[in-house]
Amino acid sequence: MENQKIPGHDLKPIKVAGSQLRMYKRNDPDMPEDYRRFMVKLLKHAHVENCGNPNYRTVIANIADAGLRYAPDGRAMMIEAEIVKQEVGHGQFVADIIASLGEDPHNPDWVGQYAFELPLKSWCDISLFHMLIDRVGLYVGIEWMGSTYEPLARISEQLEKEEYFHATAGFRHMKRFVKTPDGKREAQDLLHKWWPAALDMFGKSDSKNSSQYVKWGIKAHTNAELRDKYIEDTVPLIVELGLDVPDNSANRRFL
Ligand SMILES: [Fe+2]
Repeated sequence: MENQKIPGHDLKPIKVAGSQLRMYKRNDPDMPEDYRRFMVKLLKHAHVENCGNPNYRTVIANIADAGLRYAPDGRAMMIEAEIVKQEVGHGQFVADIIASLGEDPHNPDWVGQYAFELPLKSWCDISLFHMLIDRVGLYVGIEWMGSTYEPLARISEQLEKEEYFHATAGFRHMKRFVKTPDGKREAQDLLHKWWPAALDMFGKSDSKNSSQYVKWGIKAHTNAELRDKYIEDTVPLIVELGLDVPDNSANRRFL
């Protein structure tokens, strides 16, 4: 895994040339209150992975349930159990970082995208979830790796490697799954559910990066740029499975 090139990471560098961005450390006495509030908003109110949010437990429990219930054999179950363990770890990392900002990580509100609420009713569902939805995390994580909050930047590389493992595991599950005509048919059918959900996760194309994001150096790419890169990298995987790629604008809830 060490020397693997993580997809999307050729989009770096994040830092805007000539910018005045500086790094802030844990308990940094120089951290502006504005900055602290912004990081709390980002991690507590806009990010699904947070063990302080009971809805995240539901998301993880659904993934664990489908992964362990439908895995075709013990080896696949072990991979699913590992993925679940790592996702709990991500939620705890984020909760710890929220706490490091002097904020209670507890938040009862739903903050995730709708992809996390879609039903996972079969092995094909959970495999496509890993292959396509976990994969979106790689592209969002690109921005985190360049974060100006040092504890967040520091854990991001590990988070990225683990999400890459989840996405790769999903793709490998699918390679086995499409070997039968029935499997291929189910995969093609479910792709019409998961492909638009994955593309919608990047947000609206016309929304400009908020000035706060730019000011604090957390987002260097637009939603459309990240989505286009995801499409460019992911379409060949779908083709490799022998499946037809759905129209990129079909079944989308927003564009
Ligand atoms: Fe994660």
